Amino acid sequence: MDMYSETDFEKIDLSQKPPREEPERQYYYIARCREWVREFKQKNGRPPCFFTQTFGCQMNARDSEKLEGILRQAGFEEAGGENADFVLYNTCTVRENANQRVYGRLGYLNALKKKNPHMLIALCGCMMQEPQVVEKIRKSYGFVDIVFGTHNIFKLAELISRRVEEQHMVVDIWKDTKQIVEELPAERKFPFKSGVNIMFGCNNFCSYCIVPYVRGRERSRKPEDIIAEIQRLTEDGVVEVMLLGQNVNSYGKNLEGSVTFAQLLRRVEEIQGLKRIRFMTSHPKDLSEELIQVMKESKKICHHLHLPVQSGSSRILKAMNRRYTKEQYLELVGRIREAVPDISLTTDIIVGFPGETEEDFQETMDVVEKVRFDSAFTFIYSRRSGTPAASMEDQVEESVVKDRFDRLLRRVQEISTDVCARDLHTTQDVLVESLNDHLEGYVTGRLGNNTVVHLPGDASLVGTIVPVYLEESKGFYYMGTAGQEP
Ligand code: SAH
Ligand code: SF4
Ligand code: F3S
Repeated sequence: MDMYSETDFEKIDLSQKPPREEPERQYYYIARCREWVREFKQKNGRPPCFFTQTFGCQMNARDSEKLEGILRQAGFEEAGGENADFVLYNTCTVRENANQRVYGRLGYLNALKKKNPHMLIALCGCMMQEPQVVEKIRKSYGFVDIVFGTHNIFKLAELISRRVEEQHMVVDIWKDTKQIVEELPAERKFPFKSGVNIMFGCNNFCSYCIVPYVRGRERSRKPEDIIAEIQRLTEDGVVEVMLLGQNVNSYGKNLEGSVTFAQLLRRVEEIQGLKRIRFMTSHPKDLSEELIQVMKESKKICHHLHLPVQSGSSRILKAMNRRYTKEQYLELVGRIREAVPDISLTTDIIVGFPGETEEDFQETMDVVEKVRFDSAFTFIYSRRSGTPAASMEDQVEESVVKDRFDRLLRRVQEISTDVCARDLHTTQDVLVESLNDHLEGYVTGRLGNNTVVHLPGDASLVGTIVPVYLEESKGFYYMGTAGQEP
């Protein structure tokens, strides 16, 4: 048993001072929130309800699950929509328009809050790590109740307690941290699969990217903590984990008694009951031969690799500070494919980085032709203030970027349609994830390589892995039937 599941929140003595140590201190504040929730119930005849919205990547999604875990442990219940007693936005700031969306939503929340005076509004996540954002919220969005960042999400219960006592906006932003607080609750969106953080932060400083500034320096969790968490998850019904980090290939570098990502994977592989292992994101510059070997030998690691290339032009890659060339990337892809021939490769591509010429863009198109990605997330370069690329000269004109973006997207989609059909008329294992949203009597799941499959079935299949015959390819997904080939 671990410390968290052994804790009885009802037995914590609130007449004492809060402990200094974590996570005990947060257990104390969770108990305090429970007191407040009891009073709320007495007054209103119902428990307070929460609504969270996540903007951004899987790292943020996992953070939201932790925040929801704390809220639930504190006695809050989930609300159906934004008209809740506690509304939390977990923000992203990777591209400019992500910020605009949040400001837009805040106007709407203000209107709701006028009708529901109980309502508490909290903002957290990457956007809050930018001082000018916090400034703007203090000045123009005074109705916000709690503002915190990416480094102190474990403190949610403490921040709520403070807000309730102090009766004014609570702002708590840390510039960076070395601390990793373990043993706190977390919700799961799916009972059978879960993200698991293996590291936080990023040290790479790609010149276009804000993430290192808002997520701080790289910190790896101890392998024992990761293994223990996954063990607990599998005992609780999880069959698939997604190991999360901005650059999983540099896992372990800051830990004593060095351990590599590949070694961590070997240990995760041994966990009984776990069936599928995924991970994200791999930086090409740090992808080791050892990792390729482990992927080749593993029975559980999915044959899918997300390997962001960003650009095909070695000149642009240099300006991006990616620290590999086009040739090195293609050579790496070659080695991976040789070891794991049926691997499905996906990528991220940025179009219109400062100084990108038509020639540079053609190099990107050439990588797309040569690698033939299963899918690619394509982004128009966004000038993030605070990053080196934002002050580079010759930013590319919008219409030129748009035209390149359209050409790239078309080609990416054509290739994807071809590539994704490769398993047609074969039988493959599918982890069934949900009832189908559109087709009555159907369920939806994923192949190991992440491709979506729809098949006839009912709720009893959800969370199980079943062999499915892939009858028809629809470009990005298959229609199939459970069982072997007819
Ligand atoms: N750590 C991951 C990516 C995190 S951000 C990696 O290194 O691959 C996710 C994606 O957003 C990046 O891969 C990149 O393609 C895109 N991105 C980041 N900053 C951007 C910017 N300023 N403009 C456009 N796209 C950007
Ligand atoms: Fe951003 Fe580069 Fe770090 Fe990825 S590796 S998060 S793109 S700085
Ligand atoms: Fe966005 Fe932060 Fe993720 S900026 S992409 S939510 S690390």
